[in-house]
Formats: sequence, C-alpha cells, structure tokens
Amino acid sequence: MIIASTMIVIILSYIFSRQIKEYSGSLYLIFGCFSFIVILHRILIFNGYSVEYTPILDTIVKSIDSGALGGAIFIVVMYMGVFNMNNNFEKRLRRLRGELSIIGTIFTLPHNIHYLFEYIFNSQAILNMKTSTKIICLIMFMAGLIAIIIMIPLFITSFIKVKRRIPGKTWKYIQNFAYIFYAAVFVQVAMVYIGKPSSLARNLSMLFYMVIFISYTYKKFILNSSKKLIRQGV
Ligand code: HEM
Repeated sequence: MIIASTMIVIILSYIFSRQIKEYSGSLYLIFGCFSFIVILHRILIFNGYSVEYTPILDTIVKSIDSGALGGAIFIVVMYMGVFNMNNNFEKRLRRLRGELSIIGTIFTLPHNIHYLFEYIFNSQAILNMKTSTKIICLIMFMAGLIAIIIMIPLFITSFIKVKRRIPGKTWKYIQNFAYIFYAAVFVQVAMVYIGKPSSLARNLSMLFYMVIFISYTYKKFILNSSKKLIRQGV
C-alpha cells in the first residue's frame, strides 16, 4: 500500500500543484473533515458497530488508517529536502513542501489516535506476550509517540501565518526536529514490518522503506557534507 500511496501522492501533487497552492485553506478543511469522519468511524468500530464503505472509499480509509497515506506524503516532503532543484518536476513539487506537511499531518491523525488508544487499552495483553514481541511493540509505541510529539509543533509552524510571526532562527531551529521525526517514523515502521510474517507484499514494502530512508540519509548527510568540504577547499 505504501508504494502505491507514494506514487499517487507524487502524481497528484505534480498535476495539481497550482490548485494545492491556491486552494490550500479549503483543502485543509476538506481533508480535515474527512480525517475527522475516519476517527468517528474508528470510535464506532471500537464500540462494536460495523461500518462499511464502497470499494474505493474502503481503500482510501484503509490507506489513512494504516498510516500509509500520511507516511507517503511525509516521504515526499522528506525527499524534497534533497532535491537538486535543477528540473521542473522538482521545482514544482518543492513549492508545496509546507502545504504537503500540513496535509500529511491531517491524514496521519486518525492513524495516531487509532493505534495510540489501541496500544494503551491492550497494554496488559502486550505485556503478557513473549519478550521479543513485547520489545518490538514497546519500541514501536515509543517511536510513534516521539513522532507525534515532534509532529505537532512542525505542523503548527508550517502554516504561513504562524511562520511569519516567529523569528527565522527559531523557525529553522524547530524545523531541524524534522530529522528526528523522520528517524522516529522509520523506527516505528521498521518495528511494524519486523513484527509481520514474511510475504511478498511485506518484503517489498520493507525494502521500499529501507531504500527511501538509506538513500535520503546518504544524500542529506554524507553527500551534502562532502560537497560542503569540496566548496571550502578541504
Ligand atoms: C506521527 C506519528 C506516526 C506516523 C507518521 C506513523 C506512520 C506509519 C506508517 C508510514 C506506517 C506503515 C504503513 C504501511 O506501510 O502500510 C505505520 C504503520 C503502523 N503504525 Fe504508525 N505512525 C505514527 C504513529 C504511530 C503510533 C503512536 C502507533 C502506536 C503504537 C503506531 C502504530 C502503527 C501500527 C500498528 C502500524 C501497522 C498498521 C497496519 O499494518 O495496518 N503508529 N505507521
């Protein structure tokens, strides 16, 4: 689901880049309502009700609930940080960095609320599991929690109106926490996949996440710092 979600996010962001920029406020409102409905439905399901969707809606709701859609949007936002900006494709997507981080958070909230409460309510059952499963769940929970705590200030400061009100240095300082956020999400996802039984879909998704995070780390920290050293003539 993550590979398809990432492709769809890239294609839609590229095609509708002008509209996303122009109507961002309305889009936040529409997506916010949609996420709110997904949360309400999850509460109904928790209380024993059955909620059914049409096949297309079912796929969209599953992609939000599983974290795949939010994760895909954050992958695109993260990768924009290592764009060379020397082609139209990268320039067109990069303009949307702020808007996509806000939309990513909106679509991640139902996932966070669902699993945060599910893990808290089932904590006793998790503590009774075998040690390796318990450790995986604990790391996943902690990494997810850290990601949520960092995501909130990043979300608030992504709004242009808020950004304008805080000094540039403070804004940059807050944005640097995005690296810890990406790392926490990667750890959380890695734990999810390590805990799943092997299958073609699971292995492909796991490989996809590894390629994305390793290539990002390489481009951002190793390639960039060696370019800096070359520029400084070291
Ligand atoms: C900002 C916070 C979070 C982000 C960005 C995030 C992102 C993700 C992503 C990208 C996936 C993989 C989706 C896929 O490949 O299909 C995932 C799966 C999952 N996450 Fe999170 N997550 C967050 C917080 C949490 C928290 C707090 C928990 C609670 C323990 C959690 C539990 C899970 C579980 C259980 C799955 C597997 C879901 C499934 O297979 O349907 N996540 N998350």
